[in-house]
Amino acid sequence: MTARFVAALETISVEVSEHALEAYEAALGRICASVGFFKDETTGRWRVEGVREAGAREDDLRGALAIAEAVSGEAATLARVSTEADGWLARSYAGFPEQRVGKRFVVRGSHLGGERSVAGRITLALDAGVAFGSGEHGSTRGCLRALEAVAHRKPGRILDLGTGSGILAIAAARLLRRRVRATDIEPWSVRAAARNARANGVGPLVNALLADGWRARALRRHAPYDLVLANILARPLCRMARPMSVHVTAGASVILSGLLASQFRLVLGAHRRRGFRLERTLREGSWATLVLRAAPQMRAGMVRVDGVGHAVDPGCVR
Ligand SMILES: C[S@@+](CC[C@H](N)C(=O)[O-])C[C@H]1O[C@@H](n2cnc3c(N)ncnc32)[C@H](O)[C@@H]1O
Repeated sequence: MTARFVAALETISVEVSEHALEAYEAALGRICASVGFFKDETTGRWRVEGVREAGAREDDLRGALAIAEAVSGEAATLARVSTEADGWLARSYAGFPEQRVGKRFVVRGSHLGGERSVAGRITLALDAGVAFGSGEHGSTRGCLRALEAVAHRKPGRILDLGTGSGILAIAAARLLRRRVRATDIEPWSVRAAARNARANGVGPLVNALLADGWRARALRRHAPYDLVLANILARPLCRMARPMSVHVTAGASVILSGLLASQFRLVLGAHRRRGFRLERTLREGSWATLVLRAAPQMRAGMVRVDGVGHAVDPGCVR
């Protein structure tokens, strides 16, 4: 991963309330190679932090921050700290020790080196680089636990929407020994997912491709899916509820994460309107993961979208 960061790096961050978190995460996400958010448990406020090439796309950054302010109604002051590539990676690594997730998985940074197996568990070896998904985040952990919970249904067609590092696609391919389509809107995530899949011995099973939501034809061509994992953010999830309902099988399992516990009702409402029912909720810190089930008659009588699938669900326009 280091070779990708020969240019000087800069960490930019804002401190905001939970209400404004999503807007600022989206703003920094447009500019930065990597975005993380951390809660100060004492104040309840969030620090949204991203790493970018120093000074890159300054005009875009200003525009993105202005949009975040308009959307959230909250102004935030941008802090900038120059960051040595090695220092940043070292810090990422320090926050990425080996960890057990659920009953079936161990997530292990490839920087830890060496092979180590834990009895009864699948080791997911990941590069803790810029793509999101090193397993330390509550939303990723929730998805891995949810995957274990639905694995007994032996889904045949599987989609990991917003794959990041590929962690969920790799976990699904290794647990179920099935092909998994893994998509992301960011090219570096698609590359990281393919590379991590090969490193975990499931290169031929994980098909990583660039796609924005359900827009890619290659994604829709392989529908309907029996299992969809989508760890994105609350609002994009809501917008995708309708195409999701069209492109899954009757009785399909849908695992949604990337939402704060406070956004639970918003996301659930958008999916209930499309015929999904809640099977279980998993909490990891401030993060909620929903396990939904498509109704047995899901595909009959559903409103078809135009194939692009980005219609805004009225329940999510807030
Ligand atoms: C929170 S990360 C989840 C990564 C990984 N699946 C995990 O569980 O750790 C969300 C990922 O979704 C991607 N993403 C955001 N919007 C997307 C969209 N409209 N279509 C596809 N991917 C998207 C981001 O680039 C990012 O890699």
